[in-house]
Amino acid sequence: MTSSITLECLVLLIFFYFASSPATCSINDADLEALLSFKENIIDPRGALDSWRYNETVSYCTWKGISCSRRHRTRVVSIDLDSQGLAGSLSPHLGNLSFLRSINLQNNSLHGPIPQEFGRLKQLEYIEFSNNSFDGEIPRNLSQCQYLYYLNLIDNNLKGKVPSELSSLSKLEALGLAMNYLSGTIPSFMGNFTFLRQLSLRNCGFKGKIPESLVHLQNLQFLVLAQNMLTGIIPDGLFNISTIEVFSVTSNHLLGNIPSDIGFSLPNLRFLSVGDNNFTGLLPVSLSNAYFLQTINFYQNKFTGPMPKNLDRLPDLLFLAIWSSNIQDDISFISSLTNCTKLGHLDISDNFLTGSLPHSVANLSSQLSYMSIGRNMIHGTIPSGIGNLIGLSSLSLVFNLFSGPIPSSIGGLTKLEEINLSANRFTNKLPSSLGNLTLLNTLFVVRNNISGTIPPSLGSIPSELSTLRNLEELHLSNNRLSGLVPNTISSCITLQYLHLDGNSFHGEIPEGLSSLKGLQELDLSRNNFSGLIPSFLGDLSLANLNLSFNKLRGPVPVEGVFRNVSAVSLEENFELCGGILELKLPPCPSTNPKKKNSHIPLKIIVPVSVSGAIFIAVVAFSYIFIQCKTEPRSDKYTSPFESHFRRLSYGDLLRATNGFSEANMVGSGRFGSVYKGIIGNGNTTVAVKVLNLHVRGANKSFKRECNVLRGVRHRNLLKILSISVSIDYQGNDFMALIYQFKANGSLDKWLHQDTESTRYLTLIQRLNIAIDVASAVEYLHNGTGSAIVHGDLKPSNILLDDDMTAHVGDFGLAKVISNVSSNFAADESHSVAVKGTIGYIAPGLAPTLFFYSFA
Ligand SMILES: *[C@@H]1O[C@H](CO)[C@@H](O)[C@H](O)[C@H]1NC(C)=O
Ligand SMILES: *[C@@H]1O[C@H](CO)[C@@H](O)[C@H](O)[C@H]1NC(C)=O
Ligand SMILES: *[C@@H]1O[C@H](CO)[C@@H](O)[C@H](O)[C@H]1NC(C)=O
Ligand SMILES: *[C@@H]1O[C@H](CO)[C@@H](O)[C@H](O)[C@H]1NC(C)=O
Ligand SMILES: *[C@@H]1O[C@H](CO)[C@@H](O)[C@H](O)[C@H]1NC(C)=O
Ligand SMILES: *[C@@H]1O[C@H](CO)[C@@H](O)[C@H](O)[C@H]1NC(C)=O
Ligand SMILES: *[C@@H]1O[C@H](CO)[C@@H](O)[C@H](O)[C@H]1NC(C)=O
Ligand SMILES: *[C@@H]1O[C@H](CO)[C@@H](O)[C@H](O)[C@H]1NC(C)=O
Ligand SMILES: *[C@@H]1O[C@H](CO)[C@@H](O)[C@H](O)[C@H]1NC(C)=O
Ligand SMILES: *[C@@H]1O[C@H](CO)[C@@H](O)[C@H](O)[C@H]1NC(C)=O
Ligand SMILES: *[C@@H]1O[C@H](CO)[C@@H](O)[C@H](O)[C@H]1NC(C)=O
Ligand SMILES: *[C@@H]1O[C@H](CO)[C@@H](O)[C@H](O)[C@H]1NC(C)=O
Repeated sequence: MTSSITLECLVLLIFFYFASSPATCSINDADLEALLSFKENIIDPRGALDSWRYNETVSYCTWKGISCSRRHRTRVVSIDLDSQGLAGSLSPHLGNLSFLRSINLQNNSLHGPIPQEFGRLKQLEYIEFSNNSFDGEIPRNLSQCQYLYYLNLIDNNLKGKVPSELSSLSKLEALGLAMNYLSGTIPSFMGNFTFLRQLSLRNCGFKGKIPESLVHLQNLQFLVLAQNMLTGIIPDGLFNISTIEVFSVTSNHLLGNIPSDIGFSLPNLRFLSVGDNNFTGLLPVSLSNAYFLQTINFYQNKFTGPMPKNLDRLPDLLFLAIWSSNIQDDISFISSLTNCTKLGHLDISDNFLTGSLPHSVANLSSQLSYMSIGRNMIHGTIPSGIGNLIGLSSLSLVFNLFSGPIPSSIGGLTKLEEINLSANRFTNKLPSSLGNLTLLNTLFVVRNNISGTIPPSLGSIPSELSTLRNLEELHLSNNRLSGLVPNTISSCITLQYLHLDGNSFHGEIPEGLSSLKGLQELDLSRNNFSGLIPSFLGDLSLANLNLSFNKLRGPVPVEGVFRNVSAVSLEENFELCGGILELKLPPCPSTNPKKKNSHIPLKIIVPVSVSGAIFIAVVAFSYIFIQCKTEPRSDKYTSPFESHFRRLSYGDLLRATNGFSEANMVGSGRFGSVYKGIIGNGNTTVAVKVLNLHVRGANKSFKRECNVLRGVRHRNLLKILSISVSIDYQGNDFMALIYQFKANGSLDKWLHQDTESTRYLTLIQRLNIAIDVASAVEYLHNGTGSAIVHGDLKPSNILLDDDMTAHVGDFGLAKVISNVSSNFAADESHSVAVKGTIGYIAPGLAPTLFFYSFA
């Protein structure tokens, strides 16, 4: 049977193919055409739609993601292509798939509008478009999809108001509009969607009041209105919808009380979050009745009164955040949480809690990983049983009245990464067991009465692994620490911030600091340090150095951080001299005339019209001179950028790039690999080039890139945002350059690799790219004080951003020629003399872009 049908189809298809006349049988041309048009508008880098090809023998019903009707065999009823990496936009022809019931394109990168033609899909029941980049307005014609029960548009770029026509979607059971850029108010017609079980309107841009009509949604389980600009009070009736499990209104401007009986009226609550609003009144006493509660967020409101009691009846409680909420109570209530054996996060900081920490704190959940009880008025000692909380990774007790010694049992909390004990009245020594906390990266014990010395264990490397190798921040300011700073500090190789100011340390600045290559801030002020300022401080990558109020003497170095008068503080020392002029220190008695000589600048005067030979000689000479000046022997780098990003550490970049995962790798080259990463609270996407320091020349290429890009700025040059000179967790040197991320990758990819029609440069685009590159090169040659020769201009070093603007990058082989650029560039015949690099263009670049000569 099949073979006869197949034959018939073959004939018909051939006919269709040549005559483009309608064919029937096992294809429906409207559906076929719609699918092909869909494919045509899609960019499919991973080949997810490779099976989507004309084939006489195989029906489109077998294409990936397509299902057809059982009864009407040729009609497409569902498209399921989630997480396929698809980009591009949606074809309006999809509106011809008149049998379509379900379409799932979740988690792709589709953009453009959702076509109004979707209104023609009368059978459509299910739309899952979350996590794409669809823009434009929500199509009002969706109102014609009478059977729609599931509409998820979460996390797109949709704008405008919710169209009033959508009020006809009375069958909706799930509606997700969260994370878009909508405007206006929450439409009151949503109260007519009486079958609604899930309503997600988080972070949509809605203003105004929560409509009273929502109280009619008597099947609601999931109500999320967080992160809008909602005002007024929550309609009472919402607290009577007993089916609700998730109730979140976090981060709005809501007022009023949370009803005290909420635990009875909403007995199915799992997640309750009303944080960051202006709620007043007492915390509801009935919470303990909502047996399934896992998360309670009441933080940042204007509640008063005591903590809710009996939370110990909530066996599933995981997350309790009631900080900054004006709570007045005795901290002993914490005993009642000991039955919550799953509790992982406890933040009750910044309230008016008094009393002393009960011994039963030892019986809190061993799953507890975050505990903050700072900014209260808790006094007394820390019970040593705190050492039982072996799950803790972050502990903050700041700004309380704790006194007595820090219990040494704290050294048993081996998962601790962050401890903040600042601004209390702790006395005695720092327990040496702190040295057991191998994961610790931040230790704050500022403003206490800690005395004694820094335990050598903080920096020691015994043969076992007990060492603070991950410590990035050590803050011990304003205590009574004394003695010498142990040289073993050299083992804390990942340290970036070291604050020991306001203590009584004495002796010389320890030599051990010279190993801390990643150190960015060093504050040793207000101690009794004496002796000379060691010159290695000028070799570190310090951004800030405070040595004031000590007993230091002798010459001030002139390298590194000492070159920047605003980054160093040297006030009130004994007898400092020398340094850069701006420091206004008296000159040192001349003991080292040689050194002085080396700073007399060489002046080179270049005659304008000289014979070629002399010219080349001068160029060669000034080239050597610049090399000496710009590549000093010591390992320090001046940032080639003015940027609001601080230097990034190895740890920062490890986190930013998912541990330098392969999934984040976007390319690799001779001197290293490039990773995509996210920094700055997830706002900034960057490209991180990690130098492979084993390769000869990588280090040099890094320095060159820093030197060359210092002070150059052009819209067609790839900007460096930050650099990293640090140490990895194995103790190896680590260097990386952090650039802006360019969404469209390198030109190379567009020209050579993806031969699929999906990536195609138009003539105009090619021309624009050529112009961009030319203007960057022109700028490099003539636009700065010195001629800069890129030396490695090729398509893989040209990057394209979202709007296809080209940026020239990778200056690892670049050279600064001299400050005679204009003459130099004008006289092309001499360019050959400079190692033949000035005109170097990778073969293929010029012809493919149809262009012109450089310079
Ligand atoms: C059609 O698909 C089948 C199965 O994938 C394959 O064997 C056949 O070669 C294809 N025919 C054409 C013309 O591409
Ligand atoms: C989203 O898609 C990406 C690939 O495009 C995939 O790695 C990721 O796991 C998907 N996320 C979810 C939640 O499915
Ligand atoms: C399919 O849809 C497009 C755009 O909406 C329309 O122009 C075209 O006529 C339709 N084709 C068929 C075969 O229905
Ligand atoms: C959304 O897309 C991003 C990027 O593809 C992916 O990392 C994330 O897991 C997706 N989330 C969901 C819920 O699909
Ligand atoms: C949208 O709906 C209106 C009203 O039914 C109709 O006139 C119009 O043609 C529809 N638009 C599209 C593109 O289908
Ligand atoms: C809700 O539905 C009722 C009855 O169908 C109708 O009268 C009312 O206008 C609708 N409300 C809104 C806001 O659309
Ligand atoms: C909520 O339920 C309680 C008890 O059933 C009732 O007294 C109250 O009037 C209801 N509130 C609203 C606004 O429906
Ligand atoms: C709370 O109210 C105060 C004063 O009325 C206002 O300044 C503040 O922004 C409000 N906070 C929130 C989260 O709405
Ligand atoms: C808390 O745990 C203790 C001991 O396991 C038990 O006796 C007590 O009844 C529990 N409290 C509640 C409210 O479940
Ligand atoms: C902790 O719990 C154990 C057993 O449940 C009990 O014996 C002990 O007294 C409790 N400790 C404190 C300090 O409450
Ligand atoms: C710290 O480690 C040392 C040696 O590994 C061990 O003897 C000591 O008991 C540990 N201290 C604590 C508080 O765990
Ligand atoms: C620790 O507390 C101090 C206040 O003394 C604060 O400045 C610092 O940011 C806190 N650090 C952490 C990591 O919480």
